[in-house]
Amino acid sequence: MTDTILTTRMNAHPSDSHTISRYLNTGGYQSLAQALEKMSPDQVAEEVKASNMRGRGGAGFPTGVKWGFLASGTPRYLVVNCDESEPGTFNDRQLTERDPHQLLEGIIISSYALRVNLAFVYIRGEYPKAARRLQRAIEEAIEAGYLGQNIRGSDFSLDVVIHLGAGAYICGEETALLNSLEGRRGEPRLKPPFPAVEGLYAKPTIVNNVESIANVPWIVTNTGDAYAAIGPERSSGTKMLSMSGHLNAPGNYEIVMGITWRELIFDIGGGIPDGRKLKTWIPGGASAPWFVPDEHLDTLVSFDDVAANGSMIGAGAVIVMDETTNVVEAAHRIVRFFAHESCGQCTPCREGTTWLEAVLKRILDGKGRHEDIELLLDISDNISPGLKWPPAMTTICVLGPSAVSPVTSITRWFMPELEAMIAESEVAVG
Ligand SMILES: Cc1cc2nc3c(=O)[nH]c(=O)nc-3n(C[C@H](O)[C@H](O)[C@H](O)COP(=O)(O)O)c2cc1C
Ligand code: SF4
Repeated sequence: MTDTILTTRMNAHPSDSHTISRYLNTGGYQSLAQALEKMSPDQVAEEVKASNMRGRGGAGFPTGVKWGFLASGTPRYLVVNCDESEPGTFNDRQLTERDPHQLLEGIIISSYALRVNLAFVYIRGEYPKAARRLQRAIEEAIEAGYLGQNIRGSDFSLDVVIHLGAGAYICGEETALLNSLEGRRGEPRLKPPFPAVEGLYAKPTIVNNVESIANVPWIVTNTGDAYAAIGPERSSGTKMLSMSGHLNAPGNYEIVMGITWRELIFDIGGGIPDGRKLKTWIPGGASAPWFVPDEHLDTLVSFDDVAANGSMIGAGAVIVMDETTNVVEAAHRIVRFFAHESCGQCTPCREGTTWLEAVLKRILDGKGRHEDIELLLDISDNISPGLKWPPAMTTICVLGPSAVSPVTSITRWFMPELEAMIAESEVAVG
């Protein structure tokens, strides 16, 4: 696995990249000094709004606009989402392990802009190294006066607390995460109220992804306009993509959006090993509907282009499958994951994901029936009416509809393969 980062602003390559000395030597904490000494909190928030940066956690909601919804009142909180449990994603891990001070500087500046004095970082329990390095970074920043009381002699004070998750994917959903942080069961809340109005401990709270927050120092130093000028208009800035699967050069890549999927998979990802053919790929993590070469290789990698083709960039996980892949098996794996991770609050999700998994397993076990295709689509339609992406919601969160994506993908793009598998079973059973 290669860890290639295309721009130099991600201070992630040297072996001591996680230390404060390396960070300071590469210009670290100068954005914070600039924000505290030369800008008001509102001016910082204005720059983030001007950047047009869309949240990197999945939904792609503009960060500056979200910040504008933060209700008045104290205390108010910033919660950074490092749960990163979507199969295929591993960019937040690298950012946190290799460049914890960049994330921390982003947290401090964002907290200043939001007038927050207590920030939390929710890190998935399977990332102990990320948690250790961020904790050490917090200690180093306190010693150096970048964190704690009266930061750099200003009247701004901030504490940052790390909280480790306990292995539930659903705790990445922002309101389940807040419940978990409060010590409750990690179940998504009904919205509204949104966290910006009633979040952690029922107080105004901004929840942002690691990569979103790690972009803030660059925006403050270089201006929001400079960030907005990078890449396509509504997909500005750089995006970290975790590329995995059948690739010669899998790894994390920081790209400027607006290139084609062909360029991403074949030039940046190094193409498919041993000259095999590309069969399909998931453009935005396990939740996203799949793309196929005949339709999508010349589609652009951007939030809007991917959405216009019925899928999503999501958290930036590109999973590539070559011609040797059994797509029914791949779909079953993903559906099994969602069935296992469903929190069980909503009947369509709890029951539907379990049934989808069972029917796909039956087909894989050679006991499929022709009616199973209609059954799969009927169950899917009950979870996600109309089978569209973005989904029409019958559930509290989007986990349920996410389990439908692999099913609609194989029935849309690989029906002959699915039918042939079932036909073989019917012949065998007699
Ligand atoms: C089932 C589920 C899991 C999610 N997991 C994550 C996650 O691991 N990390 C993340 O940042 N966002 C995750 N999200 C999205 C969050 O709810 C939220 O939109 C995001 O943290 C907001 O950050 P952003 O605005 O910076 O993108 C998940 C959403 C759902 C429905
Ligand atoms: S959709 Fe599934 S995971 Fe989300 S709240 Fe409902 S039952 Fe829980």
